[in-house]
Amino acid sequence: MKLEKDLYSIDKKLLVKAGDIINTKTLKNIAGLSDKIRYVPIKGTWLIKDLIRTFKDKRYENILYPPEINQKIIRYISHIKMPEKILSELAYMKKLTPYTYHHIMVIAVLSGKISFDHSLKNKYEPGIAMLLSLFHDIGKSRIPLSILDKRTPITVYERHILSTHPLIGYVLLHYYFGKDHKKYNFSSYQHHERLDGSGYPLGIKTLNKYSQLIGVVDTLDALISERPYRSKPFTLRAAIDLLLDEADKGKFNKSLVRTLIIYSRRESPGAKIKIAEKGRDKAPSGNSYGKTASS
Ligand SMILES: [Fe+2]
Ligand SMILES: [Fe+2]
Repeated sequence: MKLEKDLYSIDKKLLVKAGDIINTKTLKNIAGLSDKIRYVPIKGTWLIKDLIRTFKDKRYENILYPPEINQKIIRYISHIKMPEKILSELAYMKKLTPYTYHHIMVIAVLSGKISFDHSLKNKYEPGIAMLLSLFHDIGKSRIPLSILDKRTPITVYERHILSTHPLIGYVLLHYYFGKDHKKYNFSSYQHHERLDGSGYPLGIKTLNKYSQLIGVVDTLDALISERPYRSKPFTLRAAIDLLLDEADKGKFNKSLVRTLIIYSRRESPGAKIKIAEKGRDKAPSGNSYGKTASS
């Protein structure tokens, strides 16, 4: 594995030189570069305020409901601490690319909400799910803005550059967490991997349960988000239909997608109804999800 540009940490340490091989030894050395890690609470920061605000995102009102539950979920993460340098990374991301930062906030609150859902309660811890989600796209701040904010479909080469963000995040998390990196680094490295081996960067099939959760909500947000080059984004129902098809093909954990179906089938948020799994909504015509420009 290699990167095409030098990679610096937020405190300006050179972690990897362009073209250098990144292997187990390199990563061990990077984890060893950390001085004593200063953990700071999220409580009382601008970050928790942004997360609370994101619970009001209209696009997801059927999932992010009711407010009392959201307050409980916020309490899970209020007690959590993260390395101060990661908080700086997120502040940098917020300034550099507000769109990507908002996406990260959305993934954190959706992961927290699904973890809190009754059927998954004993499997996922909402605070951990939210924390790991905050790290998942940390590598994107090192991708050129000309690619991240491009107003037309990206080219094959640009897609290649974009696809290095899980590796960049993985390296950064080794540095920011030092000897504790194993507890967190997979959230960046595995979120584009799929259970059938069709994902990237490695095409592995054995994924951490939190990576599976982040992968599902990350794809959901990609489908329903408006992009300048996308004629029409998916509706929530159409996006969940596509996720269900992908789960049937073995790409996603079906129980996670089913939790989303339960929400999307509610006529009004909070109502209990029996669900049918198919035939709810169609993909918009002319959508460009997953497509690359021909040149
Ligand atoms: Fe990503
Ligand atoms: Fe993402």
